[in-house]
Order: sequence, then C-alpha cells, then structure tokens
Amino acid sequence: MEKKFKRTLVTTALPYANGPVHIGHLAGVYVPADIYTRYLRLKGEEVVMIGGSDEHGVPITIKAKAEGITPQDVVDRYHSIIKKSFEDFGISFDVYSRTSSDIHKKTASDFFRKLYDKGEFIEKTSEQYYDEQANQFLADRYITGTCPHCKNERAYGDQCEACGTSLNATDLINPKSAITGNTPVLKETKHWYLPLDKHEPFLREWILENHKEWKSNVYGQCKSWLDMGLQPRAVSRDLDWGVPVPVDGAEGKVLYVWFDAPIGYISNTIELFPDSWEKWWKDEDTKLVHFIGKDNIVFHCIVFPAMLKADGSYILPENVPANEFLNLEGDKISTSRNWAVWLHEYLEEFPGKQDVLRYVLTANAPETKDNDFTWKDFQARNNNELVAILGNFVNRAMVLTHKYFEGKVPACGILTEYDEQTLSDFANVKAEVEHYLEQYRFRDALKEAMNLARIGNKYLADTEPWKLAKTDMERVKTIMNISLQIVANLGIAFEPFLPFSAKTLREFVGLNQFNWEELGRTDLLKEGDYLSEPSLLFEKIEDVTVEAQIQKLLDTKKANELKAYTPAAVKEDTSFDDFMKMDIRVGTVLECAKVPKADKLLQFKIDDGMGGRTIVSGIAKFYNPEDLVGKQVCFIANFPPRKLKGIESQGMILSAEDADGRLVLITPSDLVKSGCQVG
Ligand code: MF3
Ligand code: ZN
Repeated sequence: MEKKFKRTLVTTALPYANGPVHIGHLAGVYVPADIYTRYLRLKGEEVVMIGGSDEHGVPITIKAKAEGITPQDVVDRYHSIIKKSFEDFGISFDVYSRTSSDIHKKTASDFFRKLYDKGEFIEKTSEQYYDEQANQFLADRYITGTCPHCKNERAYGDQCEACGTSLNATDLINPKSAITGNTPVLKETKHWYLPLDKHEPFLREWILENHKEWKSNVYGQCKSWLDMGLQPRAVSRDLDWGVPVPVDGAEGKVLYVWFDAPIGYISNTIELFPDSWEKWWKDEDTKLVHFIGKDNIVFHCIVFPAMLKADGSYILPENVPANEFLNLEGDKISTSRNWAVWLHEYLEEFPGKQDVLRYVLTANAPETKDNDFTWKDFQARNNNELVAILGNFVNRAMVLTHKYFEGKVPACGILTEYDEQTLSDFANVKAEVEHYLEQYRFRDALKEAMNLARIGNKYLADTEPWKLAKTDMERVKTIMNISLQIVANLGIAFEPFLPFSAKTLREFVGLNQFNWEELGRTDLLKEGDYLSEPSLLFEKIEDVTVEAQIQKLLDTKKANELKAYTPAAVKEDTSFDDFMKMDIRVGTVLECAKVPKADKLLQFKIDDGMGGRTIVSGIAKFYNPEDLVGKQVCFIANFPPRKLKGIESQGMILSAEDADGRLVLITPSDLVKSGCQVG
C-alpha cells in the first residue's frame, strides 16, 4: 500500500556558484521539480520547493585565485546571476538561498558537532600532499602530474581528463603544486570520516528492499555502489574556504563541500520557516523528494541519508527522481569549453520565450537516458507543436468568437454525439496527466496535456464552424462554447509546464479562480463572459534564427580548437641588428600560376617597385592562383636566388601557419606602394 503523506518537501540540487546555469541544469533538475511543485500547489497540497547556491568547494577557490579575487567575490557574482535566471524562467522556489549564509554555516556546523558528539565519525591520520612554499595542503585539483595510465602530463590529483581514469593524488608521476609549481611533499594530517560501511546493512534494506519503485537508473546505480561495498568517507578537508570544522585543534580545516551542501536544504528550510521547519524535516508525514542529476545520485541516496540516519531525528527521502544528462548538438555540455546554451544568453536572444525552452526541455527530457538538445529540434517543436497545435487552436477559437459573437462566450445548445465524444476525450486528460506526474514522468505528462490541444484542434477542423456560420448559427454557438471551454482548460492543464503561456491563456478567457480539480469541466466559462483581444501565444521560429545559434556553436568549437593548439616554442633571442639585416618588403601580385608537376607550388610575378621579380611559394593547396592577382603580399627581398622545379625564385613570400597547418598570406591592412619596406 502506498503511504499517504500530509505534505511534500521538494529539494533541488544546489548548483555550484562558479558559473552561470545552462539548459542542462534546467532540463535535469529545475524544470521537472518546478512542474511537480506547481502541480501539487494547484491541487491545494502543502508543498515547498527549496533551492540555493552551493558556494563551497575547491573549483570556486581555483577560480578566485585565477582571477585575483576572493572566493566570496566569485560566489556573490554567480549567485545573483543564477538566482535571476531561475526567476526569469519561472522556477517557483519558495526560498532560494546560499551556503555562505550565516544560517547555513551554523546549521552545518551544529549538524557536524552533533554527529561528532555521538561518536558517529572515525578520526584518521593520513599523508597528503603539502606545498611548503604556499604553506598549505593541496586539494586533489591543485595537484597536476603525469597520468600513470596514459602518460598525459596534465592529469589532476583526482582524475585524468585525457583517459577518464579517476586517480589518487599519490598515483601521479612527477606531481606539481598548481599554486607554486613546486614538487609537493607528503605530510600527515587528521580528518573525520563517516563510516558508510557501518550504515551499509541499513542502506541495503532501505533502498534495495523498500524502494524498488525508484527509477531504474537510480536504483541501479545504488545497487552497484552497495554491491562494491561502502568505505568510510572523509567529511573534512584542509582548506580555508568552507564551514570550519567545529572541533578544537581543527584549525585550517573545513567541512567537505559534499558534507555541507545537502545540509543546505535544511538551512534554507530554516530560513524560510524559522519556527516550523522541523515539521518539514522530522515528521514522518512529510514526503521528501530530491530532484538531482545523475552525477549526484550517490550523495543523495547513500551519503546524505547516512548522515541523516546518523543524526537520528530526520526523515529520509521518499524518492530521488534523478535525471540523466542533456547533451548539446552531440557533445557533452561543458562550462570550461563554453559548450552550453546559457540561460541568461538565451533570454537575450529569445526574449519572452521562456516557455518555448521549458517545453522543449520537458518534451525531450533526459529521464531514462542521456538526450541531445539540437536547435533544429527546438525549432521543429516550436513550429510544429506549440505554434501549429496549441497556439493555432487557441487563436482560432478566440478569433472566431470575436468574429461571430463580439468576443462574448455564446450559450451551449444541444450536444451532438460528436460533441459528447469530444468532451469525454478531454475529461480523460486529467487522470492521464496526474498518473504520469505522480510517477515523475514529465515528458509523458506533457504529451497528455498537449493532447488536450490536439483534441481542440481536431474538433474545430471536423466541425468547421466557419462554414456553418452561413446556415446554422445555433450550432456555431455550441461549437464555440465547447472550444472556449477547452481553451480555459488548457489554462489550467499547462500551468505546471508552461506557466507564462497558461497565465496568458487564462487572461484570454478571464479565468481568475482556478484549481487542478476543475480540469476537465465544461462549465468553466459562463455564457456572456468576455474574452480579451486575441494575440499570438507562440510565433514561428525562422531558419535564420536557429542557423545563427548553430553558427555560434561552430564558432565556439573553432575557438576551442585554437585554444587546444600549443604554439611553437619561442626561438632563441636575436638582436635588432640581425633583424635589420632582413629586407622585408611589400609587393603586388602581377601574375600567379601553378607550377606544373608540383602540387604545392605557385609561381608569382611580383611588382616589387624595382622592375619586378619571380618568386615560387609553397601555398598552392590553400589558394587559387587567379584569386591572388592584384593582392599585396610581404616577401623577403634579400635571400639568395634558388631554383625550385627549374624556376629561379628570387625571395620568399611570408605566410602564417594556422593551428591546422593551413598557410595564410600576410597582407598589409591597407594598400601601400609596391616595394615598401616592412620593419
Ligand atoms: N553543487 C552540486 C553539483 O552541482 C550539487 C549539490 S547538491 C547538494 O553537482 F545536495 F549538495 F546540495
Ligand atoms: Zn590518463
């Protein structure tokens, strides 16, 4: 028997405040959580949605160091960008706070202290790398060296990004501190460990026996962790950014970010309800649901529950509907490679189109496997679904009512069998949407909501009121009444999914009071109710628009390739005098032709201001000879002549070699007299 709960606490993974948020965040966590929460609110249930920024951890300190600012500066910057993006997209948090807040520091610190006092940790001393010049222990990310597996020289202390192997810092060959470049030394340090092995029997039973209903990707990952056997995990770090370990003699140590971050859910609830937060966290009648991405599964299903269990006064999550990853145009989304659609940029380029993105990300959500976001799919779903089905139906219903009934809801007359059929089809939609939402199957739920618009579209297409208007106005009244009732229903059904458009829809028909239970009713609108002037809910997205987005990504790819290119080593120092020995000049190409039987060579006739000369150059693969006539080039004028394929070349034309080996001619940025000197 399924347990009945009194209230639901929805948490959303706290995004790291070391960069803005992108479509992967929305699709994986925040849109599904928002749909779920809005749905429960609409049903009048007691529910809150908790969010906030995760502001600790090593990547934030690295970013701060790289920019010469403090970690607090970094998180201040991104916390406000992230918070604004969520607001803009209608993610309806009841609280969106941050882990650098005082409430959080106190809550996390107290949480640790209680476990410490209960003897729930093991203390262990181990050897860790230490930078003697910087006077600090080095986090794994602060150590680079050669990967023992693939010999990549830029592997990190926790992972080699070239071969994907996860490493221990002590595995690295020739380790170096990323702070000073020095070779670190091993030094003893004490840390606190959560003995996950001790909690393993409990976790096995709780997950593997009692939560078989969890999504298979989540259950499967938990099972494989449990089957491998759990080990104690360190919950402190030697670092100066984070929540200090509240124990004597722990100077210079902070709580590990993955220990304090999930406690952020509790801190933010306390911030929201300082007096009544405990009923949300300590009452068996509360249903706790964590929305996360798949890389967070072990922390939310194993580590955090073990922490809560060790405390003993908290409830455990009832479900953890983790999503897989969303890729972008076939590649993994990456902040460092700038391979992402950033939410704040999207809104600049598609102002007002929040719901389009929410729609596409839900329709294509990575619920059971990784999925790909493509701009072509974005365009197709907008044009073929939002515009052609939902928008089109609503617009026809509105426009026809204005045309025949001066924008007033007409009376419903006698129903035909076909009307009855349509009404019963649309009455079924509610149960279907609910069924899927309760199972966290948001794509299917959206499909069902969309079905309501399809039913409306088909109804208008089949009954053709614009034809009947000449002969049977009574019938037209009924048809329009039914159509408008469907429009009003759409304003309820889409509220969880597309909150902006749903609001517009309700304004169209003047539906002010509404709740989920009314979905499916055919008397939401009364005869004589006024409609507003119709406007378009969605507009077509043109090819050029998505092509520009695709081009932007191609440019990013190109820029990344250039970044990955290691420039040739700088040559030995030379002198000004040596440089002045070179006679570099500008010439104008008079003639240019391929050299027979030499696929690389072009023969130039150059106007050098001194009577002209012939130069042979190896750039035939990159230029058409005809295109070069009239162009200006730079050449070295005082090389001794040499023969190439029997032609005497009197100098050398200068070109740059691009990262991919392509040769590009060096040309003055403005026209100059042939024979000018370069220097
Ligand atoms: N910041 C983490 C990430 O982006 C998620 C933290 S979730 C929390 O992967 F539970 F720790 F808050
Ligand atoms: Zn490697």
